[in-house]
Amino acid sequence: MPQITVVNQAGEESTIEAPVGRTLMEVIRDNGFDELLALCGGCCSCATCHVHIDASFMDKLPKMSDDENDLLDSSDHRNEFSRLSCQVPISEALAGLKVTIAQED
Ligand code: FES
Repeated sequence: MPQITVVNQAGEESTIEAPVGRTLMEVIRDNGFDELLALCGGCCSCATCHVHIDASFMDKLPKMSDDENDLLDSSDHRNEFSRLSCQVPISEALAGLKVTIAQED
């Protein structure tokens, strides 16, 4: 099972197990990171699951949809490494990923 490292809003790192087939949002939330609100439950309609992806993994993610792109535009903390974690399925290719929970808007 892939392991990923999550950096919380305070800058603290934790390494967690990330089962293939779940989404990045689900594995972060299920490991007790309450600051990832994920208010819409993964429907791509809230942008409260915003994360910053390690630069070396950006090309291993599925292409961003127009909806995700529009939602991210509403965040003051968007940068070139921004994704909505509910739109990122866990795959073996993501083993070793480091992901940072974005600051709250
Ligand atoms: S959980 Fe709402 S957009 Fe990801």
